[in-house]
Amino acid sequence: MDDGAMSKGAARCPGPGWDELMAADTVAPPAFLKADAYEYMGSAPLAAARYVDAGFFRRELEAMWPNVWQFAAREEDLPEPGDVVVYENAGRSYLLARQPDGEVRAFHNVCLHRGRKLRTESGRASEFRCPFHGFTWRNDGSLKEIPCRWDFPHLTDEAMRLPQADVGRWGGYVFVKENPGGPSLEDYLAPLPEHFQRWRHEDCVTAVWVGKVIHANWKATAEAFMEAWHSLVTHPQILGFTGDANSRYNVYGDHVNVALTPFGVLSPHLDPSTHSEQWVADEVARFSGRGGGSEGVKLGEGQRARPVLAAANRQRFAAMSGRDLSHASDAEILDAFTYNVFPNFAPWGGFAPNIVYRWRPWPDQDRSLMEVRLLVRTPPGAPRRRGPPMRLLADDEPWTAAEGLPPALAGVFEQDMGNLALVQEGLKASKTGEVNLGDYQEVRIRHFHRTLDQYLERFDGAR
Ligand code: FES
Ligand SMILES: [Fe+2]
Repeated sequence: MDDGAMSKGAARCPGPGWDELMAADTVAPPAFLKADAYEYMGSAPLAAARYVDAGFFRRELEAMWPNVWQFAAREEDLPEPGDVVVYENAGRSYLLARQPDGEVRAFHNVCLHRGRKLRTESGRASEFRCPFHGFTWRNDGSLKEIPCRWDFPHLTDEAMRLPQADVGRWGGYVFVKENPGGPSLEDYLAPLPEHFQRWRHEDCVTAVWVGKVIHANWKATAEAFMEAWHSLVTHPQILGFTGDANSRYNVYGDHVNVALTPFGVLSPHLDPSTHSEQWVADEVARFSGRGGGSEGVKLGEGQRARPVLAAANRQRFAAMSGRDLSHASDAEILDAFTYNVFPNFAPWGGFAPNIVYRWRPWPDQDRSLMEVRLLVRTPPGAPRRRGPPMRLLADDEPWTAAEGLPPALAGVFEQDMGNLALVQEGLKASKTGEVNLGDYQEVRIRHFHRTLDQYLERFDGAR
């Protein structure tokens, strides 16, 4: 064996790792949580220009965004026929319209007369009437009326249908893709739907939805959520119960990857000889942002924090959701399974109320819209209730001002966002023009950029 070549990317944080945690789980985790799906993706630096250059941003608009499946809405954003969601991203605007048969169509939200946007707000509409001169479309996209039609003998009803984008639906999520062709949504998302069969986001509804404009490139913002090891310096208050550098990083095909970050264990950066298991459990109660046992647990003689926290939360989450969770492993109750779907969708797995992220350029290479949703499981048989609208935080409002976000979680976001404007400024000021990444813990960032390059090469100049 040539260990020079074989060992690249093989180094791991010293101390007990993910495999040992899985082996100690009190309820056997599914095989995909135990599997190691890391792939070494080189050690080359990234060009800082990818984040700050207007020309690179334009290539993303032209070659990448029109060809990917984008998470555009949750089903509960438009539960009834006649509901409409305005979804805007990367220089396009779409009307997602729930049809009488329950299907969803996506139309380009632009009047075919002189180009006014048809709607600026989500809401209810049986038709789309342009507020400029009154061209009107039915909500199936067919032309209903052109005022002064005598002056438009050259426009046929057929040619005047609103252009549509492809729509795909999975797990309570509605996706759009501008250009035809490419993989089906099912193929694009694989193996995520298989993993999420256990966690069933189709049985969840949005309980909280918060957005904020971040003064950093959309990729820099997304990448702040692709690895756990920044906890060491950015989120020191969670080290007492977060195995930050013991996370597992898996990559699957071109579009999906995941970070599996253990909770309920001491960070490998802290000394276990001076921190008791009870202290770990107490730190969860003080600083966990996602309902990790906020009432606290008392450990018996010789007990470890992780299984006791898992047992307490297994009961609590079962009561909250009205579902039997006896099959749920400790990992699925406690840990952070942060999945990423290229390019900008990140649903968490597991049985705790699930966090969902989305990142969009807003509107250029220097700003992004970061959205956070909290999904909760609905009791079996409950009808899908309408979700709340997004609460868009003002520039000077902290995440802690968002009602419904657990304060500890909002505090973590506040810490994350505190880095980002300075990342963008730093990338512009960079002397080397390079970003250097870890081989293992930052492999998801490498994976992302590898896929982005594939799109840029395949579709450059195609729009
Ligand atoms: S621009 Fe829409 S009707 Fe004239
Ligand atoms: Fe963070």
